[in-house]
Amino acid sequence: AGAGASADELVPDWSRAQGAPISGYGQPSPFESGVVRRARTKPPFPTAASTGTPHGALFGLITPSGLHFERHHGGVPAIDPDRHRLLVHGLVDNPLVFTMDELVRFPAVSRIHFLECSGNTQGWATPDPKWTVQDTHGLLSCSEWTGVKLSTLLDEVGVRPEATWVIAEGADAAGMTRSLPIGKALDDVIVAYAQNGERLRPEQGYPVRLFIPGYEGNMSVKWLRRLRLDDKPQQGREETSKYTDLMPDGRAREFTFLMEAKSVITSPSGGAAIGAPGFHEIRGVAWSGQGRIARVEVSVDGGASWRDAELAEPVLSKCLARFRLPWRWEGGPAALQSRATDETGYVQPSRDRLIAARGVNSYYHYNAIQTWSVAADGEVRNAA
Ligand code: CO
Repeated sequence: AGAGASADELVPDWSRAQGAPISGYGQPSPFESGVVRRARTKPPFPTAASTGTPHGALFGLITPSGLHFERHHGGVPAIDPDRHRLLVHGLVDNPLVFTMDELVRFPAVSRIHFLECSGNTQGWATPDPKWTVQDTHGLLSCSEWTGVKLSTLLDEVGVRPEATWVIAEGADAAGMTRSLPIGKALDDVIVAYAQNGERLRPEQGYPVRLFIPGYEGNMSVKWLRRLRLDDKPQQGREETSKYTDLMPDGRAREFTFLMEAKSVITSPSGGAAIGAPGFHEIRGVAWSGQGRIARVEVSVDGGASWRDAELAEPVLSKCLARFRLPWRWEGGPAALQSRATDETGYVQPSRDRLIAARGVNSYYHYNAIQTWSVAADGEVRNAA
């Protein structure tokens, strides 16, 4: 009280009465009601839409399940798990239909991996200074996924030697379908039924989805109902008219599965105000579809000079890595950037280098260095 504290500050009202009773399923504090997924665009069909993860308000590696980004091609189906079936057929010795109970009986694995939509970060266009990190990098999330390895199910049905592709089909109204090479299918792919310790959320594929570590998000087909072994890819809608990359010479890259190394500073980031000069920890995330992040460098002068950021443990393969760097903001303008290097030696490109290689016709696979400009008054804006 001698230091000027009021009676209410010393013993606030919530300390003078009993609190709320227990609840069946916990919810965030009402004071955090602004930390939500926001629709990214106003689409012509409201069921073919996406929302972004609010990275500027999050900490650590795991995205809360309720804030994992969404991308639906035909809305979220309401699937009864007791009636849902997974058919595995095609070039196999013993085609099988699995119930959910049967899938859960198989030996399980749990892995922490990022998932990124190949349409994340529309940096090809002129930068919109109003964009926040949710707008630029929101189609990226990270969860612990639990399920049965796809290789276990393929072993059960007996894959014939001539089978080179797995065609995965969803049970949603869009019949979302993608083709996956057999080598990846037998490597680290999970048929996942749980996320962050509980059954999948409906918008993440309840009751079962494919999860393909390091590959573009749409291939991790949600509401998985069918896997067909074939000797060629499907050439379906989502791999011919969509999810291809139009190059400067007019040809299109098809089957560009891998999400290459990328990083972004999440704090401070677009839409924030730094406030007073002095100490501010620069924080962000880095990830690579090829393995572990080996290094993240941070620049506060638009790439003129770089310092190594600290990588927080654990640093896992095909998973978000959290980086931090102490920074003293002196109050003048700054340009904040981060640059990731993965364990293969791949270095995240500058915007100029990426556009020189790929042109500006593309929509997908933009992984260039992100720039946040800091004005003299501390306002932070998207600069590229
Ligand atoms: Co692609």
